[in-house]
Amino acid sequence: MRLTIVGCGSIGSKLAAAADEMAEVKRIYLTDIIPGKAADLASKLRKAIVVDNVEEELYHCDLVIESATQEAARSILPKVVARGVDIMIMSVGALVDDDFLRSVREKAAACEARIYIPSGAICGTDGLRSSSVGELDNVELITTVGPRSLTDVPYVIDKGIDVGKVAERTVIFSGTAGEAVRLFPKNINVAATVSLLGIGFEKTRVTLVLDPETRSNSYELRLNGEFGSMVCHTYNVPSPDNPKTSYLAAMSAISALKRIVRNEWIGI
Ligand SMILES: NC(=O)c1ccc[n+]([C@@H]2O[C@H](COP(=O)([O-])OP(=O)(O)OC[C@H]3O[C@@H](n4cnc5c(N)ncnc54)[C@H](O)[C@@H]3O)[C@@H](O)[C@H]2O)c1
Repeated sequence: MRLTIVGCGSIGSKLAAAADEMAEVKRIYLTDIIPGKAADLASKLRKAIVVDNVEEELYHCDLVIESATQEAARSILPKVVARGVDIMIMSVGALVDDDFLRSVREKAAACEARIYIPSGAICGTDGLRSSSVGELDNVELITTVGPRSLTDVPYVIDKGIDVGKVAERTVIFSGTAGEAVRLFPKNINVAATVSLLGIGFEKTRVTLVLDPETRSNSYELRLNGEFGSMVCHTYNVPSPDNPKTSYLAAMSAISALKRIVRNEWIGI
């Protein structure tokens, strides 16, 4: 299998290093908006070369993995699926717009391209996926993060909140998953994954809490419906190289890639 990884940051670099060790992966094309990052990563790997953009080797590529930004995901998704190439998306919030999602799904179906969305930084997506076969009354995500995860977030700055000075647990946002994904594009991709699996962006409720004492990015997923009820709590270690990204997100991308290259689907 030949891969293109778009975005060589925290997730992309861990994924590329893992892919380099997978016997099934023959070639890794790397691209980043900062060319030096792709070149630096390629120099540490055996199977990787740098390409200028995702389109450069698309005819020779079996799977594109986006690990960049929502903006990058929105730009490359239609191009990749229109060529019939499979794609894995990490910036899941890119799929918040209904019209965009519909058009990408239609294009992917017409061109026989698969879209893969790993569970990312949250546990419990297996139960959510199964339970959504029946009626779901309520899906709620409560996210708790420390101050380092919320620095440079325009919504927080506009509200006049100095994250370094918040002394006790404080609700920063409460609303729909659709709003959360737009306002916190680098923090709450899991809200998008949960929405896509469950009851959609407008019915899924999200609360974002700033806890000055916490060292983890935690997600409490609560649902109830025809199946019963479920509460699933994930306490994530933030990635040392990007505190907004949980380490589990990179692990989830690596495990998704293993399933794809081995065509082995346990616990789906
Ligand atoms: N699904 C999940 O649960 C989950 C969890 C954590 C992070 N994420 C998302 O995954 C994405 C990657 O996360 P990360 O921690 O690796 O981020 P990062 O900031 O560490 O790395 C992103 C890389 O992408 C590059 N980049 C930016 N725009 C680009 C473009 N247009 N084309 C090519 N490269 C571009 C940047 O230069 C950077 O090297 C982010 O959007 C993040 O919000 C998803």
